[in-house]
Amino acid sequence: MSSPIKMILDCDPGHDDAMALVVAAKHADLLGVTTVAGNAPITATTRNARIILDMIGSTAPLHQGARRPLVAEPKDAAYVHGESGLDGADLPEPSRPADSEDAVQFIIDTCRKTEGIWLVPTGPLTNIALALRTAPDIASKIAGISLMGGGTFGNRTTAAEFNIWADPEAAAMVFDYGGKLIMSGLDVTHKLQATPERIDKVRALPGKLAGVLADLFVFFSDVYVSRHDNMRGGAVHDPCAVLALTHPQLFTMKDQHVVVETSGEYSRGMTLVDMRGLKERKDPNCAVVWDVDAEAAFNVIVESIGAFSS
Ligand code: BDR
Ligand code: CA
Repeated sequence: MSSPIKMILDCDPGHDDAMALVVAAKHADLLGVTTVAGNAPITATTRNARIILDMIGSTAPLHQGARRPLVAEPKDAAYVHGESGLDGADLPEPSRPADSEDAVQFIIDTCRKTEGIWLVPTGPLTNIALALRTAPDIASKIAGISLMGGGTFGNRTTAAEFNIWADPEAAAMVFDYGGKLIMSGLDVTHKLQATPERIDKVRALPGKLAGVLADLFVFFSDVYVSRHDNMRGGAVHDPCAVLALTHPQLFTMKDQHVVVETSGEYSRGMTLVDMRGLKERKDPNCAVVWDVDAEAAFNVIVESIGAFSS
């Protein structure tokens, strides 16, 4: 068996970030967790990461990162995740503090010490952009970046997905960094929905963790179902960025050129995927994830939760 993928998960928990943490802890070599302001302010996303790591018994290093985007005004997503960033379940107090408040330095040091790490951002790309700008040498030391964000339609605005919209300047730097990049955008993540039947599978698992995560899924899915015309559950966005690495056989990807729009009254934060058949199109800079075997992918999430819940 090949050794598990080395990964730093850079997240803003966030219901789906919490699920991504669980999948990464089970299926990857989780070298660290870093937090960023996004779904909620930085102290809240860090607190939520601390709680989830506690609940799965993970001792992975945890470092708090950027409190605000590079240029944009900070704006959270309480309308999806609640004021705490993780509303909807009875959560325990976290037992340990973050190891530092310098996630960027942790990312740089870890990527210099161990080559071949995948950076997996599931929130705004502020920490990753700062790490690449401060230490450009890490671009050739990492295996790549597998991110959740973007797509050919928006959710925060007509054009823009939340993670890219929240810090478009950071996202533009990441899409331009020159190494391997995988984008799990809304095109794929909306195909992986936490339907009632799927949440029941989580609820049926033994143990406290499964009950808590089922409650979180219910809260998140209720928000999605109430806000959309045709969804049967929350879009399980962030685990896709992890699963695209650990279970690539479940996904359909295509190498394409993607740029981030940083200006534009209506289009700031949009990702433009070059889908032209013209030979003059630019060379690919990104593997765009388009499709997923949703049933199998959700089963991996269930099995990951089950591994930590008894
Ligand atoms: C992304 O935004 C956040 O609300 C989710 O955690 C996910 O990372 C989806 O647009
Ligand atoms: Ca997220």
